[in-house]
Amino acid sequence: MKGIILAGGTGSRLRPMTSIVNKHLLPVGNYPMIHYALDKMADAGIDDILLVIGKHSAGLYVDYIGSGASWSVHVTYKIQEEAGGIAQALGLAESFVGPGEKLLVLLGDNLFEDSLKTVVNEFETSDKGAEVFLKKVADPRRYGVPVLENGLISSIQEKPEQPPSEYAVTGMYLYDSDVFEIIRSLKPSARGELEITDVNNVYAGQGRLGYRLLTGWWTDAGTQLSLLDAGLWLSGNGNA
Ligand code: G1P
Repeated sequence: MKGIILAGGTGSRLRPMTSIVNKHLLPVGNYPMIHYALDKMADAGIDDILLVIGKHSAGLYVDYIGSGASWSVHVTYKIQEEAGGIAQALGLAESFVGPGEKLLVLLGDNLFEDSLKTVVNEFETSDKGAEVFLKKVADPRRYGVPVLENGLISSIQEKPEQPPSEYAVTGMYLYDSDVFEIIRSLKPSARGELEITDVNNVYAGQGRLGYRLLTGWWTDAGTQLSLLDAGLWLSGNGNA
């Protein structure tokens, strides 16, 4: 299985720090944020990883990660010229993923406790098209929120005013290689982006979107408060 880490984006909610350095290089606990996604890939046994980054700070990623040798993985870099949404960034990985090969996708700002090792191994041999990871949250309105029916996700609503469940769809995804054909069929959303939720809804519509519940802590470290929270967790002082 191939690993894709998406670490582009402008990090507008973390300005002014992100006008100096890309969000995924900001310190969280003892490391830059991107360190943890590489740890999770290596822990899951994925050793061939594509890192999609923007032009801003590109050299700093190479300074820190290099070839990936510190994690005993092989890292390749791809530049996303302009932010066009998560699905657009993922589309850049098409030539990196072989025909019929599956992929684990991590959003670089999603920090979490669970190991993905077992799930990755099970997905490798399953006939599911895609799988997402859900976490119960106090306010689902800032996330993708699933509609659950008979053990499957029937659809996902992106940032709904009235959430259909108490769960957030987190930024970790497993896909079969159909994902690239699906991305090519997408139209930009109202905010002008190719949405990962639209990709997942194609799988959901085909009855091919599975899910797992995360049991440990999880946060999307894209705001000042969630960044602080993540730092506390990762230094052993979290309490949520
Ligand atoms: C993205 C996805 C959303 C998901 C979230 C997880 O939102 O669009 O479905 O719940 O990541 O972090 P963003 O934070 O990029 O707006």
